Amino acid sequence: MTLYETVFVRRSVRQYDKSPLDAGVLAEIQSYAAAAKQLPGQSARFKTVDSSGLKGGIAPYAILAHSGGTDAELVNIGYTLQGVDLYLQSAGYGSVWCGMASPREGAPDFRILLGFGKTEVPLRGGEGDFKRKKLSDISDADNAVARAVRLAPSAVNFQPWKLSFESGKFTLRVNVHGIGRVLPGKLYLYDLGIALKHAELALQHENKTVAAFSFGGNGKDFMVEARYE
Ligand SMILES: Cc1cc2nc3c(=O)[nH]c(=O)nc-3n(C[C@H](O)[C@H](O)[C@H](O)COP(=O)(O)O)c2cc1C
Repeated sequence: MTLYETVFVRRSVRQYDKSPLDAGVLAEIQSYAAAAKQLPGQSARFKTVDSSGLKGGIAPYAILAHSGGTDAELVNIGYTLQGVDLYLQSAGYGSVWCGMASPREGAPDFRILLGFGKTEVPLRGGEGDFKRKKLSDISDADNAVARAVRLAPSAVNFQPWKLSFESGKFTLRVNVHGIGRVLPGKLYLYDLGIALKHAELALQHENKTVAAFSFGGNGKDFMVEARYE
């Protein structure tokens, strides 16, 4: 299954078979995460661990994301690890973003982790199995990018996105004031990166490529603009 196809069937997995994964499988997952495509100019680091050293872990294993904490670096982690989430589920494993888990031994540049392991639940059957907002509530157009973004995972399923389209360009916005009252930290920046990954896969599926991403904000909205050809 391709990563794009996985967008339409993935789920957050919270029930796992806790028997260990082979060392070779773990090494493969680590290599995939370490080589996963990041946003231009970014260089987050990813480390695969078993969950014994974590507080609040949901899955038997986890990929820890380490980087600086600027807005662009957090968006980059969302973008990069969502590619890994889709890879894991396309390969038959379960995965779940864990905003509340962390290593027991503090690491100053640890940001967030993605739990994973042998799943005990099947993939979704299709778009109808997702609990999501109506497409028209998040986008001013109905197209492949909007449909893929709509299914993206987000912290507490808040789905903070607003998409608008112009010729060769879309803008993805998050209302920072609205979401800041509901969620701790800046989890919405991971959500934004996650949505960008889904948008990019939809563009690639249509044989388009993203030419440039730019990030910005006006204090009320945080936004990413993507130009594609
Ligand atoms: C940044 C982020 C943090 C999350 N943190 C948690 C978490 O701490 N615990 C949890 O059970 N799920 C967590 N989730 C999973 C969301 O609850 C889940 O993606 C959302 O409810 C949509 O469900 P789905 O992924 O099955 O489509 C998180 C998701 C994201 C994107």
